[in-house]
Amino acid sequence: MRTQVGIVGAGPAGLILSQLLHREGIASILVEKHSRIHVQERVRAGVLEQGTVELLVEIGAGDRLQREGLVHHGIELSFLGKRHRIDFQALTGRSITIYGQNEVVKDLTNIRLAAGGEIVFEAEDVSLAELDKQRPKIRYRKGGEMAEIACDFVAGCDGFHGVCRPSIPADALASYERSYPFAWLGILAQAPPSSPELVYAYHDRGFALLSMRSPSISRLYLQCRPDEDLAAWPDDRIWNELDKRLEVKGWSLTRGPVLQKGVTGMRSFVAEPMQYRRLFLAGDAAHIVPPAGAKGLNLAAADARILACGLAEYYRTGKTPLLASYSETCLRRVWAAQQFSWAMTSMLHRFPEATEFDRRRQLAELAYVASSPAAAQSLAESYTGLPFEELP
Ligand code: FAD
Ligand code: PHB
Repeated sequence: MRTQVGIVGAGPAGLILSQLLHREGIASILVEKHSRIHVQERVRAGVLEQGTVELLVEIGAGDRLQREGLVHHGIELSFLGKRHRIDFQALTGRSITIYGQNEVVKDLTNIRLAAGGEIVFEAEDVSLAELDKQRPKIRYRKGGEMAEIACDFVAGCDGFHGVCRPSIPADALASYERSYPFAWLGILAQAPPSSPELVYAYHDRGFALLSMRSPSISRLYLQCRPDEDLAAWPDDRIWNELDKRLEVKGWSLTRGPVLQKGVTGMRSFVAEPMQYRRLFLAGDAAHIVPPAGAKGLNLAAADARILACGLAEYYRTGKTPLLASYSETCLRRVWAAQQFSWAMTSMLHRFPEATEFDRRRQLAELAYVASSPAAAQSLAESYTGLPFEELP
């Protein structure tokens, strides 16, 4: 097989890239390790920046998003038993949209396939070859048969545990990393959201987050140990703990059947540069942020957009200035998001080694954000997202 751009991974980065390329008349094939059902049902991110929403609308993936997405104009911070609203609309003129990542993936998959796009699901033993040559190859096994796709370019959109980043020679890549001594225990529950906006709670027992997916589905998270055993967390224990950490007078958490639960580890990671010869990394394949800043999916969308612009320029003109600056352009946004995600994580979580000094300092920081319009505006500006780069 032969294509212009071979894309490994049919998550948000790969699908957005493939759709953008399609609109430029550039052919691509997506190679995905999991089944279509698995990819579409995996519960992950939920917060879309305004720029991400605009991008999805522009590429024709916005119909259901605009009908069903919940537009939020702010979030709440909860500490010492009180809630403090950060008004994004007043502080930045921008808003966010709550819409499940799996719904984004479902919509994009549908429009790619409807337009005749090629997605190979359940590809086994995916590997890259001949990265140093003019035509790099993606190899995989499907139904017992080996297959090979010769590509002009390969886009590594296969997430943090994928095969693309490790295919780059170690001396051609630098990585920067930080791990955290906690994780999030997350549940999806059949229960109407107990608050109209997201609530980020700092509590002596640990961080908690109230989020949602629809008017009837809540998404909730609790800070837990990185090696937390889910078996030790029957539903009642989870709800009781959420009650304690989110508590404010006169408010209660609506419970409902737990549809799904899981533990998510936390790390900050950046690989530089995001390119090796004709291989370009995009999304989680190149960088990971801890989820408290809600940035991962939005960064993946921004990378895909910049890469698509560079490839379009190449196929239109034969020139590569945008491709050559791809990594540098992406990394400016990536590091801004790293800083913000680290700051939100540090402000809101209880660190195991923390002292009373640390606790008082965190409370002072929260009080500052809650009371100073300048501090609140800074948080709002980062949370709602950097404007997209000017690109041709
Ligand atoms: P992925 O979504 O990981 O997609 C990669 C794809 O590649 C997958 O489909 C995978 O199956 C496939 N793949 C992997 N290996 C191979 C292989 N060898 N061959 C072929 N295919 C392969 N981000 C936000 O912006 N906002 C949030 O609110 C938010 N909340 C989150 C909450 C949780 C609990 C988690 C876990 C993450 C959250 N994130 C959030 C992060 C966000 O989900 C990721 O940043 C996003 O999925 C990145 O998209 P991607 O396309 O780069 O990677
Ligand atoms: C979510 O709804 O899954 C979500 C919301 C905000 C975050 C992280 C996850 O910061």
